Amino acid sequence: MQQRDETVSNTSSNPCFTQILVEHLSRRRLLQGGLVAAGMAMLHSPLVSGRGQRAEAAGALFSFAGVPVSKEDTVVVPPGYTAEVLYAWGDPITAGPAFKADASNTTAEQAQQAGMHHDGLQFFPLPLGSQNSTRGLLAINHEYTDDGLLHSGGMEPWTADKVAKSQAAHGVSVIEVALAEGRWTVVRPSQYAQRITGQTPMHFTGPAAGHALLKTAADPTGTMVMGTINNCANGITPWGTYLTCEENFNGYFVNPTVDVEGVSDSAQKLRILGGQSRYGITKTGFGYRWHEHDQRFDAARHPNEPNRFGWVVEIDPFDPRSEPVKHTALGRFKHEWAIVTLSADNRVVVYMGDDERGEYIYKFVSEGTYAPNERAANLRLLERGTLYVARFNAAGQGEWLALVHGQHGLDAAAGFASQAEVVVQARAAADKVGATKMDRPEWIAVHPTTKEVYCTLTNNSTRGTDKGPAVDPANPRAKNVYGHIIRWREQDGDPKASRFQWDVFVLCGGPAMAEADKHGTIKGDIFGSPDGLWFDARGVLWIETDISTSALNKDDYANMGNNQMLAADPASGEIRRFLTGPNGCEITGVVTTPDGKSMFVNIQHPGEPANERSDPNKPTAVSTWPDGKGRPRSATVVIRKADGGVVGS
Ligand code: FEO
Ligand code: CA
Ligand code: CA
Repeated sequence: MQQRDETVSNTSSNPCFTQILVEHLSRRRLLQGGLVAAGMAMLHSPLVSGRGQRAEAAGALFSFAGVPVSKEDTVVVPPGYTAEVLYAWGDPITAGPAFKADASNTTAEQAQQAGMHHDGLQFFPLPLGSQNSTRGLLAINHEYTDDGLLHSGGMEPWTADKVAKSQAAHGVSVIEVALAEGRWTVVRPSQYAQRITGQTPMHFTGPAAGHALLKTAADPTGTMVMGTINNCANGITPWGTYLTCEENFNGYFVNPTVDVEGVSDSAQKLRILGGQSRYGITKTGFGYRWHEHDQRFDAARHPNEPNRFGWVVEIDPFDPRSEPVKHTALGRFKHEWAIVTLSADNRVVVYMGDDERGEYIYKFVSEGTYAPNERAANLRLLERGTLYVARFNAAGQGEWLALVHGQHGLDAAAGFASQAEVVVQARAAADKVGATKMDRPEWIAVHPTTKEVYCTLTNNSTRGTDKGPAVDPANPRAKNVYGHIIRWREQDGDPKASRFQWDVFVLCGGPAMAEADKHGTIKGDIFGSPDGLWFDARGVLWIETDISTSALNKDDYANMGNNQMLAADPASGEIRRFLTGPNGCEITGVVTTPDGKSMFVNIQHPGEPANERSDPNKPTAVSTWPDGKGRPRSATVVIRKADGGVVGS
């Protein structure tokens, strides 16, 4: 959430393949009769239809009874399944302090409780390296705060202590969970429990660590930072660490002036200001008002402070005393998912989206290789490697363009004096090399056996308008209301390849709409604004939706009900609705235990009003989930099949 649909920071003039596009689409229009047909044609391109095994697998992946759309203030799952709340905002990570329903918990108490607005999550079996499905650690992101709900009296008056509590409600929870007699509970006390917040000390690695652009009044060395914020999607490494992704960090900063005081070098000044506007930093921010009591969020006074956010952060859930690290080699942008896979020669490959309209898809390939029994060395694999950005060419071909200082024009003359400047200004570097502007890349999923990669492009109302890029083959619909899911297969099936073949897996939408290009290509249950995306071990593709609260009230989404989660069969293309969420929520994290018999799903911002901040005097206007009374609370839900079977089978 908190995408701010009005945001478009990418004003670069890099190619949108207009010429190729015109030729491509006019040819398809001639052959197929329209844009939707173009999407269908991609769906049935040789890339897809050539795979006999997909057709054979169809129908075998799931047999659960799909659920209808819902406007109920509850979580609905298919018959034969249960969904129980495990860990809601304010629940203690270990033994106490207890949640107070009037939101009177102190800042210190909040720092020992679940933060707000659960997003991505992962399950780590205990002990480390095992496949235990009855005991483990959950690492859970807390993306942002609704300060109308967080404090007893909302945001009035606004105090330094409320800023501190808001920061304490951000970050990550690590909790220990166990299954006994058919029920999961949080283990309290636990030696593993930890909360990482907007004030937790952490350090930088990689090419930008110690660089001038990371030096601030608080840290003249440029190697340290206090906290992680707007932790949205995530990733997990084969060596058992958690990756948390900093997304809309820009919204916490304000820059009330157009000048940069204290910076005398004019080139440096330009770089700083250019960097701020390219990352969406504005005069007012998103209304968090942290800068009123914590000066580092005033980006005019502290122009390098925003450079310390927008990174992928690695956390060791098995060692609460370890310090999290921000890996600058993976680039700075509004990070969505960071999914890790291994190349044929065991390099670590991380696919990452930058969620804003017209932004890019990236991948990182490590220099070193993964060795299963070398955990200390593996913990350093994300420090060095090559960052790439994707270009989706016409006719289903694509390439990865290296963001390396000295290549593709990334030199001092273009404003990149070093690799440090390339990674800090990764968006500008991607502009320079001519990456493809996408319709808001959210989560990325890698098929467990084919290694085919899927990415949700949630929507883009500016596509094809004077505010956004033209339509192109990979983003084929103007004013893309419902979004789509794109997929690609790396050359020779090797994730580190520099070329790939792509096609559109599905154009989302609903057949009830009058406009043909809103019908989409869904085989099965309708949905829109896909966000979360995750493959389970059997190859079921789980799709979670984030229709914004404002869009839910518009005609385009009138038939789609509350946000939901669906299962897709990548072979047949069949999509079936598995879960619907309570009022005003979005569905975020999803993961299962190794045996697939317990699924953890996050419900974020139940009860969110259209203006995104609740009225502290009427916090229950939209939802009272999960307690049925009092303030709505984001929560982790655990889903089980009554017969003990695999979830989603
Ligand atoms: Fe926090 Fe792009 O969703
Ligand atoms: Ca998301
Ligand atoms: Ca989203």
